[in-house]
Amino acid sequence: MTKKQTKELIDALNESRSSELAAISQYMNHHYECKGMESLTVKDLFRAQALEEMGHAEQLAERITALGGIPTLKSGTVKRGKTVKEMLKIDCELEQKAIKRYKAQIKLAEKLGDTTTRRMLEDILISEEAHADAHEALLS
Ligand SMILES: [Fe+2]
Ligand SMILES: [Fe+2]
Repeated sequence: MTKKQTKELIDALNESRSSELAAISQYMNHHYECKGMESLTVKDLFRAQALEEMGHAEQLAERITALGGIPTLKSGTVKRGKTVKEMLKIDCELEQKAIKRYKAQIKLAEKLGDTTTRRMLEDILISEEAHADAHEALLS
């Protein structure tokens, strides 16, 4: 990869890392703040997903560092749902955006011939699709 291509990839991975950092806070907040009967089914799920997002943020940081970049500490926008349904809806939106972004970044890594990054992103994508499926199942 040229210097410019490496920078493009690092910037892309940092964009995902920001979104993962936002997801950690958002899902943990939802874990703490969900109340009432219907929260019983999602309380643990919010926490479990937050921990998985932490894993993604960490994987991205490791790869960014390996590529010679600096992992961002900047979080994306965190949204706060008031009801369980609203929480699931805004979390699902965050997942849909992540899925779209990871698909684009997989293509970028492929184009640049970076197999390691591509495979890492594919693993993360599998996890995000499972998150989105869980939200959709609960919302329907
Ligand atoms: Fe994630
Ligand atoms: Fe996710």
